[in-house]
Amino acid sequence: MNTFVTGRRLARELGEWRSSAPAYRALAERIRVLLIDGRLASGAKLPAERELSNALELSRTTVAAAYSKLRDDGYLASVRGSGSTLTLPGRERGEHTLHQGLPLDFTKATAPAYPGLGAAFTAAAQEIPRYLTHDGFDMVGLPDLREAIAQSYRDRGLPTSAEQIMVTIGAQHALNLVTRTLYSPGERIMVEQPTYPHALDTFSSVGARLLAFPVRQDGGWDLAEALLQIRRAAPSMAFLMPDFHNPTGMSMTVPEREYLAAAAQREGTVLVVDETTALLDIDRGPMPPLACFNPNVITLGSLGKIAWGGLRVGWIRGPREVLAQLLRNRPSSDLGTPLFEQLVATSLLKDLPLLSDNRSRDLQRGRDTLVRLLAEHLPQWDVKVPDGGLSLWINTETTSSSALALAARNEGLGLVPGPRFGLDGAFERFLRLPFCYADEQLHDGVRILARVSSQVGSDPLRMPLQAVI
Ligand SMILES: Cc1ncc(COP(=O)(O)O)c(C=O)c1O
Repeated sequence: MNTFVTGRRLARELGEWRSSAPAYRALAERIRVLLIDGRLASGAKLPAERELSNALELSRTTVAAAYSKLRDDGYLASVRGSGSTLTLPGRERGEHTLHQGLPLDFTKATAPAYPGLGAAFTAAAQEIPRYLTHDGFDMVGLPDLREAIAQSYRDRGLPTSAEQIMVTIGAQHALNLVTRTLYSPGERIMVEQPTYPHALDTFSSVGARLLAFPVRQDGGWDLAEALLQIRRAAPSMAFLMPDFHNPTGMSMTVPEREYLAAAAQREGTVLVVDETTALLDIDRGPMPPLACFNPNVITLGSLGKIAWGGLRVGWIRGPREVLAQLLRNRPSSDLGTPLFEQLVATSLLKDLPLLSDNRSRDLQRGRDTLVRLLAEHLPQWDVKVPDGGLSLWINTETTSSSALALAARNEGLGLVPGPRFGLDGAFERFLRLPFCYADEQLHDGVRILARVSSQVGSDPLRMPLQAVI
């Protein structure tokens, strides 16, 4: 099914699209960047020329010329009477096109598998015969795993019973299930700005109207703005990452947690707290989970970052009545979490402190190496050093990260440009750089970045001419 992009939405996504180039070329170029990095889907229908010219307050001739350039370059197919459809010429569709098969892929912030994972798989292989009489459709999770997850919360100071846990196929699945279950058409969802791009995808997929409040590296969570949004727009849900927020790596202070927990409780906004990255502590120390301050919080967790993304085991912690609702809604999308992976997860959770020490050491090495390399090769970038998480969130001040991502791709380096993490084209000058890679890869990546950033500059058009997909 083709999605329709309205003029207003396109205007929002375009963000700061103007450059020193003629307006039609700058507009065409910007639409191409949005298509290539996945913010506009291949197959999406662009608004009619008149609609876009109204939304952008541009002449219709300019929009027509931009569409015509996109058509000439193979990015737009127009059929008289049925509009203009975005298309990636001769390539696979979707955002992955930008970085498929690149020698250095920094588009994912994901760490290598925990070294003890092989042993956990072997232990699970010994145990699985005992489960073969089970029908295999497990919609809530194996009792031992639910108990081990509940124990991990109790160890962090949050009283939790196994009945408050539902095991899922990773945190992304958990977020989808929660959203599809709790969200009703017309409601609003509040997100942090910047935020995790696939959460934005999930919320867009249900047609949610999104509002954002800032998370700033120099000021933390903007509580006043969050409260204003909650009061003014009464979002039914708010999506938060208080521990090693993706992409900034920041953590909420205890007063910030208390404030947001209380405001949401008072105003009837359900907080969905994504803790996928919560155990990625480098040198911060423990913090109470946000759910300590509000009993209605729904917390998402995962072993994806701490053990291995390929395990695909996550969970939801929430009030029992919410879990019952989720359970009723779950069969429409899946029929349970695989048992074998659950056994692996149960065995890994017994060694959680070991997993987290191991990850912490590795992340510290990566973080410190990347910070040192950037200071050496790109000293003009404003690099804030987080005390956990998987990535640096860098304010380049002057460089267009969309242009940088395209130019870097030409040199074999995949990057996600800043605007993927924001609403309405925000963060064009920001770049997320993961540090969860080997030193050698970080060296190669920074060398490429230093080379292309000097060619690119701040103008999305000033990229090497061959930088097309
Ligand atoms: C904040 C956040 N939530 C959820 C996910 C997805 O987790 P999973 O692999 O468990 O589905 C990620 C992975 O990148 C993430 O960073």
